[in-house]
Amino acid sequence: MRREGLVLGVLVCAGILLLASVGALAAGSHDMLNCSGCHSIHYAKAYKAFAVVNEKAQNPRGAGAIDGVSALCLGCHENPENGGAGLKPIALHTTHPVNLTPNGKIAKVPASALMNGKLQCTSCHDPHPSNPSYQYLRVDTKGGGEMATFCAMCHPAKVDLSAIKGPIQAFTSMDETKGAMFGPVDGITYTNPTKDYYGKAAK
Ligand code: HEC
Ligand code: HEC
Ligand code: HEC
Ligand code: HEC
Repeated sequence: MRREGLVLGVLVCAGILLLASVGALAAGSHDMLNCSGCHSIHYAKAYKAFAVVNEKAQNPRGAGAIDGVSALCLGCHENPENGGAGLKPIALHTTHPVNLTPNGKIAKVPASALMNGKLQCTSCHDPHPSNPSYQYLRVDTKGGGEMATFCAMCHPAKVDLSAIKGPIQAFTSMDETKGAMFGPVDGITYTNPTKDYYGKAAK
């Protein structure tokens, strides 16, 4: 039953994708999920009313099945043989490490970017449609042209920080309080430039 639901959802998504490719995407690609692609109000499969969960994908680092919020993302973004829906699939075994407790020598991850102490998909991406950044990344990379600014969030020793103007700003959709800003936490300020979110001070 659940499987059928997912398959149906995928078919619907695929249909919308076809339409989208004809009309060219005006909005971000998660807009088409219409909230309910990721959140099921009454028949959720995981915490935060998540509608999708990948129960099959294994962590290539050998730590067992993928868990937490990454299991939501991979419910759509993995290949079907690994429990995903094949939508823009990112194969886990060729992906930047994820779903692990960071080794502080390899990455200096701000605590605020960890979920239950782990690096997850949402450490790097805020997937809500309100996120205006390229690829729903937390940091605005100017369409991918300034990727080092994003990597600097966790790998500052590798980046020429003198080339980055001002403190790193990361997007968050996780505080509805108007004008709320977190930080700076470990040098990062969390902001949300969405219209009407800020008080008068913002442009
Ligand atoms: C691509 C998947 C995705 C879509 C689409 C999506 N969400 Fe979410 N939503 C998430 C994730 C992931 C979290 C948890 C984020 C976290 O814990 O950092 C979340 C959390 C939430 C929360 C809980 C916030 C909290 O403080 O616990 C609310 C409310 C929410 N979403 C509303 C919405 C609404 C409204 C829409 C449609 C405009 C929407 N979401 C679309 C993935 C999605
Ligand atoms: C219900 C299915 C679904 C879930 C769950 C989902 N996505 Fe997506 N996502 C999509 C679809 C559909 C697209 C557009 C695919 C395409 O254009 O071919 C997309 C596109 C993307 C893109 C590319 C954005 C762009 O500009 O094209 C990113 C990045 C992304 N998703 C990240 C995530 C992350 C991170 C999560 C988990 C927090 C997540 N998605 C959860 C369906 C999903
Ligand atoms: C370390 C940061 C990081 C983590 C963790 C991460 N991503 Fe990404 N992701 C990126 C970056 C950077 C890009 C854009 C790459 C580019 O366009 O050059 C991206 C792109 C994507 C895309 C678009 C791919 C395409 O072909 O356009 C999807 C979908 C996506 N990520 C999903 C996920 C999912 C699902 C997870 C968790 C399993 C995840 N990401 C974890 C940084 C990350
Ligand atoms: C949100 C934090 C975060 C961001 C942003 C981030 N990384 Fe990482 N990165 C990590 C963590 C955590 C690890 C794994 C540490 C460990 O092995 O415990 C890692 C590992 C790596 C590795 C080693 C991979 C391996 O297989 O051992 C490379 C290479 C890397 N990151 C490159 C990048 C690049 C390039 C960017 C920017 C596009 C980036 N990272 C952005 C947190 C991040």
